[in-house]
Amino acid sequence: MTIINELEHTITKLSAKGKGILAADESIPTMTKRLEAVNTESTEESRRAYRDLLITTPGINEFIAGVILFEETLYQKTLDGTSFPEKLMQLAILPGIKVDKGLVTLPNTSNEQTTQGLDNLAERLLEYKKKGACFAKWRAVYQITAHTPSSLAIHTNAESLARYAAICQSVGIVPIVEPEVLIDGDHTIERCAEVSEPVLYSVFHALQRHQVKLEYIVLKPSMVISGKKCAQKATPEQVAKATLTVLKRTVPAAVPTINFLSGGQTSEEATTHLNAMNSVSSSLPWNLSYSYARALQDYAMKMWHGDKQRISAAQNLFYERAKLNSLAAIGNYQPALEKKPSFA
Ligand code: 13P
Repeated sequence: MTIINELEHTITKLSAKGKGILAADESIPTMTKRLEAVNTESTEESRRAYRDLLITTPGINEFIAGVILFEETLYQKTLDGTSFPEKLMQLAILPGIKVDKGLVTLPNTSNEQTTQGLDNLAERLLEYKKKGACFAKWRAVYQITAHTPSSLAIHTNAESLARYAAICQSVGIVPIVEPEVLIDGDHTIERCAEVSEPVLYSVFHALQRHQVKLEYIVLKPSMVISGKKCAQKATPEQVAKATLTVLKRTVPAAVPTINFLSGGQTSEEATTHLNAMNSVSSSLPWNLSYSYARALQDYAMKMWHGDKQRISAAQNLFYERAKLNSLAAIGNYQPALEKKPSFA
């Protein structure tokens, strides 16, 4: 297969209507935080067992087109001895890999952050590709305060995202480009829109400078939403309208699919907001779907909390969440379909 054929094959699968991406690529510190929150010790084996539970959920491939793995998981095996990427391929789910090396402080800003990991990226990607990875993820973050994000942070992050995306495509790997405007803070939805627009504008300008082929990327943005501590919580209709306004102003029609992150929204909010966007308009140029971590996994993780006896109950909750998001990805979700678990 030529590089273009590889990219074409991967993006076609990842943008299938009604399917989304499971982000199961929490780094070890993040995964440790999630496991400790449900009183489970974070060990190589507990992380393996939990990811095993997720991807061996019966029928999950109806709703999940790809799974983003953390490097550790790429080299681990499911209970039956099959490696995670092989298992995913058997299930007709594409394996992907988080390739950034996390956040560092950007000097001469008010503690803003940028993402590292470009060194030796092409070599690392070729290794991951041998293990079966066909797409990758790189996350940049932007914090909203009265004075941030600064233009230095916006430009630096855009440049790194674009360099990463160009390197991925040069070796036949589809890049997920993830600029995350954080939900933390008391900002209004209007302030979030004011920040998100130049962030995305700058990302696409950089992608163009680096000659990234937009037909073969997945954009993974945050929604335009009021801050967690904002006194005036935006309604789903406002979130849908503000997000679509910003996306239409900044994201070229050549991008095939936009898969949102959940970013600290509740499971129900993330589903409702995605559904609202897919209900507003049927004439959008891109597929609009999900690439959630917490909003897909939270209930399953709580139900499981390290207990083998609860694997099947946890899988049922994960299946249910994926199904509801799949409906939201085609605008057919209704809150009445929710069956809240007793502990929620
Ligand atoms: P959340 O959906 O929990 O925000 O995670 C998505 C992700 O991949 C973060 O990088």
